[in-house]
Amino acid sequence: MRNDILNDIIQQVRYHLVSLKRNGTSSVFFEEYRNDGAQTVPFILENPLSQTENTCSVSSLEELALSVHNCSRCEELVKNRTHVVFGSGNKHSRLMFIGEAPGHDEDIQGLPFVGNAGRLLTKMLAAIGLSREEVYIANVIKCRPPENRNPLPDEVQNCAEFLHQQIEYINPEIICTLGSVATRNLLQTETPITQLHGQRLNWHGIPVLPTFHPSYLLRSPHMKKEAWRDLITLMRIISEQAIVV
Ligand code: URA
Repeated sequence: MRNDILNDIIQQVRYHLVSLKRNGTSSVFFEEYRNDGAQTVPFILENPLSQTENTCSVSSLEELALSVHNCSRCEELVKNRTHVVFGSGNKHSRLMFIGEAPGHDEDIQGLPFVGNAGRLLTKMLAAIGLSREEVYIANVIKCRPPENRNPLPDEVQNCAEFLHQQIEYINPEIICTLGSVATRNLLQTETPITQLHGQRLNWHGIPVLPTFHPSYLLRSPHMKKEAWRDLITLMRIISEQAIVV
């Protein structure tokens, strides 16, 4: 079966299961057809994304935000942070952007992408007819790494549960990862962003389109035309899938 057809089927099944789970269903039954006759097998609707250590059990995006604000898992980050930067935008949006980590301005304001990179992101969104209020924006890690260093593997690991639950609550129909740190960590790949950008990939049945990080584009403006192509691809997928952002 073609991958795009298979992905669409996986996505539809996923939405159906997520909505059943939200409505309180804890298990569903599938008929398994065998040569010796059909057999009904239970399928438990546990959350596969929160089966990690330190499981944080919450029942809404707001509760999740609260537990992230109280998080003290990463000693160095907790010591240095002014604010936890959970995420912002429209929690009902079908389009979610994921960046790397808060920088100085984000740490001060408690909001993602509000500094120079954020201003470029706002312009990139405007170029495809979207405002920040129409999309949801989050980061892989929620506290600023000192001196804007890259997040350490332990920090990414500690925050992964939060990010995964955040994605589950937002339940986007498409995710755009911004830069190599977000792409690598969400998709668990070592392939460089220069190869992955603009490709339709997939995370647990959700299409993911990686593009370059706005900070990188500020440092390498000649790459903006590549990012522009990625945004056009993003809009093409959105219109092909009839996604109403
Ligand atoms: N860079 C990021 O990756 N995220 C922000 O929120 C700001 C800058």
